[in-house]
Amino acid sequence: MSHLWRAGLVVLAVGVASMAQAAQAADKLVGNAAAGQSEVMMVCAACHGADGNSTNPQYPKLAGQHADYIEHQLESFQKGRRTNSIMSGMAAMLTQQQIADVAAYFSQQKTAPGPVDTDQVALGKSIYENGVPAVGLPGCQSCHGPKGLGNAAKLVPHIAGQHAQYVVQVLTGWHNGQAWGDGPHAKLALSVGQKLTVAQIHAIAAYVQGLNAVR
Ligand code: HEC
Ligand code: HEC
Repeated sequence: MSHLWRAGLVVLAVGVASMAQAAQAADKLVGNAAAGQSEVMMVCAACHGADGNSTNPQYPKLAGQHADYIEHQLESFQKGRRTNSIMSGMAAMLTQQQIADVAAYFSQQKTAPGPVDTDQVALGKSIYENGVPAVGLPGCQSCHGPKGLGNAAKLVPHIAGQHAQYVVQVLTGWHNGQAWGDGPHAKLALSVGQKLTVAQIHAIAAYVQGLNAVR
């Protein structure tokens, strides 16, 4: 009797273990925005703002960013594909579930529009729409969309309204050859930065900051 009972327990335990494995194998955790909000208030808000609209332009706005893209970037910091003295440490503290939660929260916030730098806008707009044909760079809109909303399914980020200072920081890094890993996305981004001159980077960043669907 007790022997059978024990055998039953073993079967049950094996069953639970394989269910747990199956759950781990299922790639997607469901983010809980409310749990994400309390995590954000405790840690991330100091730099990224309570609603993801950072006021200090060296910190990227995360409001309205696609959840999958936020998860992708946090995993890149964790795995060392993308490095930053602040964010590499921040990301290292997060569990997979916390990543899904903060991503759900930020993605549900609304991006605040940024100020427009009128001196730079004309050149920036032309690069945004038409690229730089002489060096074979397509317009930014061909991937990021005419309004800068990106493409969630393809992990192309929402960039409309992003701080110009941060956009300059990112594009200059790529321009100087600092890749975000060696995946196809990272290589694509690197080649965009390398095809732009420093002056073009400043113009396009000014345009991106003022680009917002709500305008
Ligand atoms: C002390 C300031 C600081 C704190 C706190 C902070 N971050 Fe960041 N975060 C940064 C900086 C700086 C960058 C830009 C890194 C770079 O240039 O590569 C960044 C970038 C990011 C990015 C990439 C955004 C993009 O558009 O590619 C994500 C996602 C992110 N942070 C999420 C978080 C989350 C989630 C938290 C809270 C757990 C957090 N950050 C806390 C400073 C901070
Ligand atoms: C061929 C498609 C493509 C084109 C053209 C393109 N991008 Fe991107 N961009 C991407 C992808 C994909 C990423 C994400 C890279 C990654 O995850 O490593 C990205 C990321 C970015 C980011 C980082 C956003 C963040 O906060 O993480 C900025 C800024 C950006 N692009 C600006 C531009 C600008 C400005 C142009 C035009 C000069 C441009 N891109 C042209 C595909 C493109």
